Amino acid sequence: MIDLKSIPASKKDLDSYEVDHLFHSWSYQPAQAPLRVLTAKGVRFKTEDGRERLDFSSCFVSHNIGHQDPRVVEAICEQARTLCAFAPNFSTRPRAVLARMLAEITPGDLSRTFLSPGGTEANEAAVKICHQFTGRRKILSRYRTYHGGTAASMNLSVGDPRSWAQVSGGTEVVPVPHPYCYRCMLHQKYPECDLACVKYIDEVIELEGGSEKVAGIIFEPVTGANGIIVPPPEYFPKLREICDRWGVLMIADEVMSGFGRTGKWFAVDHWNVVPDIMTMAKGMTCATVPLGGTVVRKHIGDRFKEQFFSHGATYAGHALACAAAVRTIQIYQEDNLIENSAKMGRYLLEKAMELKEKHPSIGDVRGLGLFVGLELVKNRKTKEPMVPVGGKVRPGMNPKLEVARKLAELGMMAMAANPGNVVAMAPPLIVTKAEIDEGVAIMDKALEVADAHVEK
Ligand SMILES: Cc1ncc(COP(=O)(O)O)c(C=O)c1O
Repeated sequence: MIDLKSIPASKKDLDSYEVDHLFHSWSYQPAQAPLRVLTAKGVRFKTEDGRERLDFSSCFVSHNIGHQDPRVVEAICEQARTLCAFAPNFSTRPRAVLARMLAEITPGDLSRTFLSPGGTEANEAAVKICHQFTGRRKILSRYRTYHGGTAASMNLSVGDPRSWAQVSGGTEVVPVPHPYCYRCMLHQKYPECDLACVKYIDEVIELEGGSEKVAGIIFEPVTGANGIIVPPPEYFPKLREICDRWGVLMIADEVMSGFGRTGKWFAVDHWNVVPDIMTMAKGMTCATVPLGGTVVRKHIGDRFKEQFFSHGATYAGHALACAAAVRTIQIYQEDNLIENSAKMGRYLLEKAMELKEKHPSIGDVRGLGLFVGLELVKNRKTKEPMVPVGGKVRPGMNPKLEVARKLAELGMMAMAANPGNVVAMAPPLIVTKAEIDEGVAIMDKALEVADAHVEK
């Protein structure tokens, strides 16, 4: 038994606490403790080995305004000194202000928000609202997407009347194809395809019971972890038409793509499409304090003036998180970060295209704003993937991990451990041209590891 009043904290002790007592997310549990981060500032972070590295993933696309902005730190401290939190049936000043701000920056008449502790919970809330609003069970979701990590906690809440609003049997998910033109599931070619993948969705809605049975469709407007997939320009306007025709709600998961990441406040803004429900997290507070949001259009929000809103959480609208979000949103505006994302994003995409000229392991380059992906292949002609489907969860089948290790050795973190074939670059929106050059030069070297896996 260790003395809990004075826990020893040598490097060796901390390493053993990590390895013996913690679960690490989405991975085979490491035999060695991961590098411990001591400090972070702007686009860089310092680890216990004394090295400084460039953060080209914004910590899984959350630290959009850069690390440790003192203005947000001060806002959190000030709120902590005043009131850390209070029961969600009371309100706090930052919670009310944040709700108004979100109505301002989200498109169209998106105007009423439920605040939760993170992105997963924001999507859970979206799905529950979708069921409660439509009374229907089926939600369409596209292959190659990630919407969160929890399982069925409400179904487990047996005998609690809050679970009664769950549609019987829970959500029924109906998978549909993605507009992933590089590997079209329908074996079509854009633009000759005339958006066959959207027509497919129309047909699926009809076959699944249309307006009687289908509640909504959830999607990432620009898909993140599963490959930085940017849809063709006509995709979302056409999808909006179809959803309107069937009364199916569009749920845009902007957890990664929101808050300036793609060069607009939200990715759907590129296509002037207003979803019925939008979810967000990450860039909302830039991960300083966990927070997620589910914003709905006015007619949906108004319905819950009469209908019981069957969802909630102790931390819904936590005061510290709301104070952080309010200050963070002001900083996006004060420092013109959305504009910088668009401008630097164009530069990063250009540089990524140059990498493709040099590296046979790059099959495709895609991106929007500071959200740029390099898709790795073993063979450009056949497009044989560098990482087979499932490579992330099966041992020894993910050469991208070697790229990730090489990047770390050379002094950079990018998104290279995600599922699929794509190494993504998503630096904080404050990034400069010189920092992009530095990061791309490191990526250039690290990609030699991937090139070694290309078929000769
Ligand atoms: C698009 C998307 N939705 C939802 C989530 C889940 O968010 P969280 O990890 O905050 O629960 C993520 C996380 O990466 C995400 O990328």
